[in-house]
Amino acid sequence: MAQHTEAEHRALEKHALGRKSLVEIGVAEGASAIALQTAMSPEGTLYLVDPFHLARVPMLNFVRRAAERAVSSHARSKIVWIESFSHDAARNWNKPIDFLLIDGDHHEEAVEQDWKDWSPHVIEKGVVVFHDARVFPHGWTTKDYGPVRFVDRMFREASSDWAICEEVDSLVIVSRRK
Ligand SMILES: C[S@@+](CC[C@H](N)C(=O)[O-])C[C@H]1O[C@@H](n2cnc3c(N)ncnc32)[C@H](O)[C@@H]1O
Repeated sequence: MAQHTEAEHRALEKHALGRKSLVEIGVAEGASAIALQTAMSPEGTLYLVDPFHLARVPMLNFVRRAAERAVSSHARSKIVWIESFSHDAARNWNKPIDFLLIDGDHHEEAVEQDWKDWSPHVIEKGVVVFHDARVFPHGWTTKDYGPVRFVDRMFREASSDWAICEEVDSLVIVSRRK
């Protein structure tokens, strides 16, 4: 079940195009993972980080199963499942990333933690994409959403080595300043 708009889906594809080392934090049923898989390099690797901890019946975990089914039915590149909280997964992470999607825990401090843990691994020409991070007409986000508050504070109100390069519905895409 998609948790993003059609325009967001296209923007995810556009920024994932040809990328080789992609990390998605917060996979849910795999709708955004499908967009990434469709566009990324077939020689690349997509790392999917989600603890799938919200299942009502952990043994059955329908969300994880749906994600696995959705992702495997579109598989054209290597997929690595990392079934843990993003902060724990970051502890042993040592690979360069050219596309990072932050869509896990939406509390402001958790979004900030993901940014601090993962953005140092993003290469110079890479991008970081935040979902639910912008208020847009007829959308579901409000200015009090954690990702909205973090993105506003970090990229609109303070100076940073990173700048917003595109915004599409609730998506905010940032890249390093030249
Ligand atoms: C909004 S959904 C992701 C939607 C998905 N990206 C899509 O567009 O189809 C949020 C997901 O983040 C996961 N999550 C929550 N806290 C997390 C954390 N600390 N690290 C990684 N994933 C987390 C939840 O299990 C849930 O599946």
